[in-house]
Amino acid sequence: MHLSIRGGTTLSGTVPIAGAKNAVLPGCAASLLTDEPVIIHRVPRLRDVATIIAVISELGKDVEYRDDTIVIRHGAPLHSQAARRYVEQMRASFLVLGPILARLGRAIVPLPGGCTIGPRPVDYHLQGLSALGARVKDGMDRVVLTADELRGARFRLPYPSVGATEQLLMAAALASGETVIENPAREPEVFDLVSLLTQMGANIEADQDVFRVRGRTELGGGEHTVIPDRLEAGTYLIAGAITAGTVTVTDVRPDDLTAVVAALGESGVHVAVADDAITVDGNDRPRPITITTAPYPGFPTDLQPPLVALLARADGESVVRDTVFPTRFGYVAALNRMGAKIAVSTGAARITGVDGLTGTDLTAPDIRAGAALVLAALTADGESTITGVDQIDRGYTEIERKLQKLGAKIDRRD
Ligand code: UD1
Repeated sequence: MHLSIRGGTTLSGTVPIAGAKNAVLPGCAASLLTDEPVIIHRVPRLRDVATIIAVISELGKDVEYRDDTIVIRHGAPLHSQAARRYVEQMRASFLVLGPILARLGRAIVPLPGGCTIGPRPVDYHLQGLSALGARVKDGMDRVVLTADELRGARFRLPYPSVGATEQLLMAAALASGETVIENPAREPEVFDLVSLLTQMGANIEADQDVFRVRGRTELGGGEHTVIPDRLEAGTYLIAGAITAGTVTVTDVRPDDLTAVVAALGESGVHVAVADDAITVDGNDRPRPITITTAPYPGFPTDLQPPLVALLARADGESVVRDTVFPTRFGYVAALNRMGAKIAVSTGAARITGVDGLTGTDLTAPDIRAGAALVLAALTADGESTITGVDQIDRGYTEIERKLQKLGAKIDRRD
């Protein structure tokens, strides 16, 4: 299967944004903390969502997925071991570790796979769970954790890791006593998990610098609508900008996209923000900018590849640094094959803007780099084919349908 894209069309119109993948995945893991039903609304149809459903189903949950709602009920007694074939496909599967450990006192989870964006260790997850009393056996390709009892503790994350913060929040919700997580991740998806856990009965005080969790012996069920996907929204805004078009994303929370709106504005794109919508109005060539990704509220690393694609055609030299995943520049070689002039050195891309790009055959290496190649193909002269579409499908619902509605010449072919 591949995407076939004829570039050069100016996009125009409105795109409704789906629920946030990165909020649904921890939400599904959180369902393991209880035998009561957990209902999640606004769930996007994505491969990663199918993967987490497979993971929790194998662990014993009974999952019903209808329209955009998943209902997760108690099925079989919870297993302590997660299936390798799913965990290898997606790093977020590792989030089941804390909940299984908290429920059963034992958890065996393979080391995760996922996007090929450089080394992504899980040491902070394991250090945090050890602080709560887990004993860690770290094998070659899996981790085995045991704990007679999880006990609340004070733990300072060496870095505000999204996954490690979520892992600790879930384990601490069922630990005895108080857990204090210092230097937590503050991404909107983390706060979305906090609101689901709170509904399930967890006692969490989440302010900006410290999260305090007072553990409970049991949690109940919950019903929750996830936040909009700021990364999908940002991608379509950049699609509008890169084609010098006018694109509105709707059903979004603009406050979650402040850094993205600022970056686009700085690059000369006209951006109008409404209550739950954002419109971009692009120029033929953006202005060059210098930008560094950072944990929220900084510019998101996930939108770094799409932004680099946009700046490939800027009128001058831009520098984009990625401090979150410094090696997330593997896709740059593909942009250069399209005629871009981008030099990558440690953790940064120096982009000399060019007049135009040329379509070619491309392969999507991971979700966001795949999206960046789609955007580059939309602005390129001639036709591009993009294979590896299953990577893009992990994070974008019906990308070709949404882009076609904006006027793009894009098809999915076998
Ligand atoms: C989540 C997002 C991903 C996003 C990333 C950063 C999900 C499902 N995925 O990934 O889309 O790009 O946040 O916003 O929500 N690190 C360690 N040791 C650890 C954990 C992390 O060294 O134990 C490092 C990572 O290698 C990376 C940085 O910390 O350099 C940030 O990673 P983290 O925030 O944990 O990302 P994920 O939760 O995997």
